Amino acid sequence: MSRLRFGAFMAPFHARPGDSPTVGLHHDLKIAKHLDTLGYDEIWFGEHHSGGVELLGSPEIFAAWVAGQTSRIKVGTGVISLPYHNPLWVAERAILLDHLTRGRFMLGIGPGALATDGDMLGLDVSQLRNYLQEDFPILMRLLRTDDLISIDTGRYRLVDARVQLDPYSDFDIAVTSVFTPSGPMLAGRFGIGLLQLSGLTPDSLAVLPQHWETVEKQAKEFGTTVEPKDWRVVSIMHVAETKDQAIEEVRYGLSHYFDYFQDVVGHERFSAAGRTFEKRLDWAIESGYAIVGTPDDAIDKLQEMNEASGGRVGAFLHWATDWAAPEATLRNYTLFAQRVMPEFQQTTGRLDSSRQWVSRNSAEITQKLNAGAKRFAEKHDKEKA
Ligand SMILES: Cc1cc2nc3c(=O)[nH]c(=O)nc-3n(C[C@H](O)[C@H](O)[C@H](O)COP(=O)(O)O)c2cc1C
Repeated sequence: MSRLRFGAFMAPFHARPGDSPTVGLHHDLKIAKHLDTLGYDEIWFGEHHSGGVELLGSPEIFAAWVAGQTSRIKVGTGVISLPYHNPLWVAERAILLDHLTRGRFMLGIGPGALATDGDMLGLDVSQLRNYLQEDFPILMRLLRTDDLISIDTGRYRLVDARVQLDPYSDFDIAVTSVFTPSGPMLAGRFGIGLLQLSGLTPDSLAVLPQHWETVEKQAKEFGTTVEPKDWRVVSIMHVAETKDQAIEEVRYGLSHYFDYFQDVVGHERFSAAGRTFEKRLDWAIESGYAIVGTPDDAIDKLQEMNEASGGRVGAFLHWATDWAAPEATLRNYTLFAQRVMPEFQQTTGRLDSSRQWVSRNSAEITQKLNAGAKRFAEKHDKEKA
């Protein structure tokens, strides 16, 4: 098994009514810095414009803010909803961020999820995936070629357009996918990454090999190469020392989160069955939508993910929620980095074998060491006499 990378996708969710957005956004920065310190590999920020809970209108601005205050974690747009924008500006800002972060930037692209966001722009939201299929090739030409591009899509116009800055690096580009083949088709066609948000329920695990098959088929057809390391899977995990403690901690915000999905955006796939905390929690745990438990529960689930995908997933991303209070959320990431990450990054194997080797041989070797020390002291005493 190759080394699994870890990170987070941060919409971010601030679902508790009445909480200060300023405090919330600054806490998101604190989480990003915390993940950087703990050795997480990447963090992605969302773009949303309505609904009152997912507060970032501009993932690029947030990514730049975070990049300036972290040292090694990669920062990405997770995602820019391409149909909301002129692709020329998306390409320009991505390349600018690539320079500003000296290659720590990642560009995540999707069709857009909140119907009200697209509607505010006067878009036919039933066409968002088709718009993405139309706009994405234009974006890729702007990013990767010097072609002069002229096009009129009826939604925007480009006239001999090109980006004036060359990229600083060959930065990561990824598209989103939940259950349709829209994302996998683009990932294979352009040889880029996939951000997979079906979660880790049994039907989501079953979709993993199907999506990878689509990616590989498209890659073959378009003559590109796709690498499993660019495949990321996103899901919710909140861990604590005991399962009871983890459950107690998510009492803080789990119900607000599901109020948002059940009553505000009405997203079926992310909506729990039931209205009480207990019913929603049971649904989340039993359906496999989330892990609320111990590091061992998280390890078991990630092993299932590895098996379902044939060991192909390159990174696991926390779907960052506000289910627990700020301090408990930070502790959860620390515990995850301490106890879960090493299982998938092969960082404790030598320590274990060294410990076992020493415990097997230490008595005999230490005896020799002590005998030598005794002889040395005796010799010294004799010389003094
Ligand atoms: C990791 C991830 C992050 C996403 N972030 C956003 C986002 O910030 N804003 C948004 O409108 N949609 C976001 N989406 C949703 C996508 O825009 C879109 O709804 C999804 O990719 C549709 O997938 P499907 O075609 O498989 O149903 C995200 C999806 C994933 C997988």
